[in-house]
Amino acid sequence: MKRILPINGPSRKSEKIRIRELEAAVSSLRAELEEARQALAHERQLKTGVTEELGEYRNYLDRMISERTQQIQRVNRDLRAEIMRRIQMEKELVESQRFVSRITDATPNLLYIYDVITNRSIYINPRVGSILGYPPDQVRRMGNFFFQAVLHPDDARVFDRMKERFAFASYKDILESEYRMKNVSGEWRWFLSRDVLFRETSGGQPHLILGIAQDITERKKAEEELSRSQEQLRVLLAHLRSVREEERTRISREIHDELGQSLTALKIDLAWLAKRLTKDQRPLFEKAREMSHLIDLNIQTVKRIAAELRPGLLDDLGLTAALEWQAEEFQQRHGIRCEIRIKPEDIVLEREISTAIFRIFQETLTNVVRHAGATKVAVSLVRMTRGLVFTVKDNGRGISKKQITSPTSIGLIGMRERVTFLGGTVAITAAGGKGTTVRVVIPMAT
Ligand SMILES: Nc1ncnc2c1ncn2[C@@H]1O[C@H](COP(=O)(O)OP(=O)(O)OP(=O)(O)O)[C@@H](O)[C@H]1O
Ligand SMILES: [Mg+2]
Repeated sequence: MKRILPINGPSRKSEKIRIRELEAAVSSLRAELEEARQALAHERQLKTGVTEELGEYRNYLDRMISERTQQIQRVNRDLRAEIMRRIQMEKELVESQRFVSRITDATPNLLYIYDVITNRSIYINPRVGSILGYPPDQVRRMGNFFFQAVLHPDDARVFDRMKERFAFASYKDILESEYRMKNVSGEWRWFLSRDVLFRETSGGQPHLILGIAQDITERKKAEEELSRSQEQLRVLLAHLRSVREEERTRISREIHDELGQSLTALKIDLAWLAKRLTKDQRPLFEKAREMSHLIDLNIQTVKRIAAELRPGLLDDLGLTAALEWQAEEFQQRHGIRCEIRIKPEDIVLEREISTAIFRIFQETLTNVVRHAGATKVAVSLVRMTRGLVFTVKDNGRGISKKQITSPTSIGLIGMRERVTFLGGTVAITAAGGKGTTVRVVIPMAT
């Protein structure tokens, strides 16, 4: 800033100078003032800008704070909900643990988790003691090796086998095994276990197995008893059949030989008598002729009854001849065509098998007449590598599934029974409206 000089004396020149100087000072002051005003205006402008900026910033901060507050409130709410959920879950877990432990207490079965890698039981329910009769401290002493201590030597690999089977199973699969365990009195008890995969290794191999094993000893005993008595029944039935067959053979022969021979003798005697009759004894001659005719009929009846009881052909010429005779006889008596194919022709079979097939043939033919309404029957007896295959096929109305399996179909049951006893199978099929097929397969040593 320029300095203002003091006014010395009232000289005109100096006054002018003084005035000029004053004017210069005034204009300098004015310039200075202007400068200051501009600076002030600039400052004011700046200040307004800053204030505006500050205002915006404050607004921004306010917005941020409100957003943050909302966020925090939200998180708080979620957290509270999560805490509540956890508390509920914990409650449920405790409840479900209680539930599981009540089940393991109450179940009459053995419940276990078995580690198939280290071969140890990880868990066995306390029931094991009462199921097998071991006191709790003994069960504790057996520890992880409980199964090793009680498993039957023949079933010792049961968990190894489970491991192998689970390697190909999924979590959904339930595998069943049967094994024996020794109870406290040294008795072997049978158990049926249903096992599932509980955990796999990181490599996807079976690791822990969860199983429930049920004592099935009584059921096993009952099954064994049942199959023993079924076997006995089967043997008894076979014995009865063979006795009946023997009896039929004997009666058939007696009727055929004894009765047949005496009828033939009677016929010869009658002829001898008739020859001795004179011409005036015509009525007696007629009577003798009638008697001879009656004797012929009787001879035929005797032959038929004997053959029906047991065709001599079956024993004398074998199954092939007997089947052919039966087919011919059937065709003539009922007018139903019966074609028969036997391969090889000279098939030779044991008496037991021949009889079974012959009787099955008779039963199927009777069924055809009684139920099928057929016009044709095709029969075949073929020796194959898998055994003897005997088939009777008709073109009748066909048999229903219900009739095939009905417990009242005694004829069919008898047929199956005969074949089962010989180790074979019977398949009865109906091709909707195209008739019925009975197929018997009897395995034979080659
Ligand atoms: N060839 C067939 N065609 C159609 N239905 C048949 C045939 N064979 C059997 N059936 C049906 O199967 C049922 C059972 O036959 P099954 O031989 O066991 O008994 P059944 O002939 O009725 O009596 P039986 O004990 O005297 O033999 C018959 O009642 C019949 O309905
Ligand atoms: Mg029948």
